[in-house]
Amino acid sequence: MAFKSNVLLLFGGLFFLSFGFRNISLLLSKRRASKKYGCKPAFQVPQSETIIGYGLLKEQLKAMDDKNVLGYMANRFRKYGNTFAAEMMGESFIGTIEPENIQAILVTKFDDFGIQGRKHAFGPLLGNGIFTSDGAQWRHSRALIRPSFVKSQISDLDIFETHIQTLISLIPHNSDTVDLQPLFFRLTLDSATEYLFGKSVASLHNVDGPERDFATSIDYALSEIPRRYRFGRFNCFRRNKKFIEACKTVHDYVDPFVHAALQGQPKDDKEKGRYTLLYELAKATQDPIQLRHELLNILVAGRDTTASLLSSVIFILARRPDVWAKLNAEVQRLGGKRPDYETLRQMKYLKYIVNEALRLYPVVPANSRYAVRNTTIPTGGGVNGKSPIFVIKGQIVMYSVMHLHRRKDIYGPDADEFKPDRWETLRAGWAYLPFNGGPRICIGQQFALTE
Ligand code: HEM
Ligand SMILES: *[C@@H]1O[C@H](CO)[C@@H](O)[C@H](O)[C@H]1NC(C)=O
Ligand SMILES: *[C@@H]1O[C@H](CO)[C@@H](O)[C@H](O)[C@H]1NC(C)=O
Repeated sequence: MAFKSNVLLLFGGLFFLSFGFRNISLLLSKRRASKKYGCKPAFQVPQSETIIGYGLLKEQLKAMDDKNVLGYMANRFRKYGNTFAAEMMGESFIGTIEPENIQAILVTKFDDFGIQGRKHAFGPLLGNGIFTSDGAQWRHSRALIRPSFVKSQISDLDIFETHIQTLISLIPHNSDTVDLQPLFFRLTLDSATEYLFGKSVASLHNVDGPERDFATSIDYALSEIPRRYRFGRFNCFRRNKKFIEACKTVHDYVDPFVHAALQGQPKDDKEKGRYTLLYELAKATQDPIQLRHELLNILVAGRDTTASLLSSVIFILARRPDVWAKLNAEVQRLGGKRPDYETLRQMKYLKYIVNEALRLYPVVPANSRYAVRNTTIPTGGGVNGKSPIFVIKGQIVMYSVMHLHRRKDIYGPDADEFKPDRWETLRAGWAYLPFNGGPRICIGQQFALTE
């Protein structure tokens, strides 16, 4: 026991010292640099201790336990303004909901920012792939995958039809209450795996067996990710055997598909003209680990997101008979015919509903980038909040589209209300970012909207 606590003290002391040193030297040189670029500091959140920033971590973990992360964030922007700075777990970060700042980190200063934290958090599950990598590796992944998401590949509604029919058959046909969200999560897993692997895991059908294990393991692994994010560099001190096992179950399930694809596409598949992402990727790379990771990267980026959007839309429709009636009228104009891709695109009110759901309940509500070199963001500094802000290499810029999408000075006093009709005239530009923007814009946007 004595030994153990000494070791802890030693480690604690070392961390304290290294962060303390980093803080003081940072502070001095940051001041000098800030002046040089005509920058002013962002509002600094009052913290009892900023060396490790444990207080802030504790607040965030509590908000997570209370399932109130977004409410907690809303409060921070209300209290500290549209841009502020704080320290957490030895990292210094800036929070912002200024469209100009978001545009800078996503487009105009794209090369100054990276996604390092994501690699740490998702690494054991996703390895290196389009969603988890940066720089040359990301460019390579993006180029590999992009051709698979051109319009002609995603306009085939058959990918969705059988799974939707299965889902409808699982809904009680009397007036019993049904929880649709779990069904939507299985639906999007089934359609995404069909498109990605060439064979659906059919989790709507399979209540046990390897398909179910895959589904529960990927769900469990993903539920651990937010925690891994918040512990940042301290993750190496945490052991979670269940997480490691879940990652292995997921990999063991995907690998046979990859090995089969490396043997070439089955003949009857080709004859049916079916498009499978895995077979396309296998033409460009024969590395089984890269193939596994690219598949999982896309699956993770595309599955929960689409299921969440479907859930919000149905949640809203169930509570808004006025919106329901208007949408129903648009659907009736199809005259009972199954819509194709082009027809779906022309259903304006449907589109407004989806836009509005993504505005008030963006599926990726908050996001962040870290500075890979010293740089600046254009606004939010100084007492008037208009000066550029110096961002030192390694600093994190966190942005919340959830709270950006609800700014009353941008969307008007009714910003918190669900009003699809506002999209008849609204042109939101960089104040509306459900799919992100710039070179890393969501590659599956059309796939998701079609589903
Ligand atoms: C409503 C549904 C969806 C929403 C709201 C959404 C949103 C987003 C957002 C915000 C990003 C940017 C993440 C970042 O750079 O930090 C992103 C990236 C991505 N999305 Fe989606 N997405 C959706 C559906 C899909 C689907 C269905 C797929 C694929 C089938 C997909 C594949 C991807 C991929 C691969 C990336 C990474 C792109 C890159 O880093 O270059 N997404 N998505
Ligand atoms: C460093 O610590 C001081 C006092 O604890 C705090 O006021 C300051 O904001 C911190 N700065 C940086 C850059 O970490
Ligand atoms: C970044 O800025 C800091 C603070 O001014 C400075 O100490 C450091 O040398 C700069 N790094 C580079 C690569 O310019």
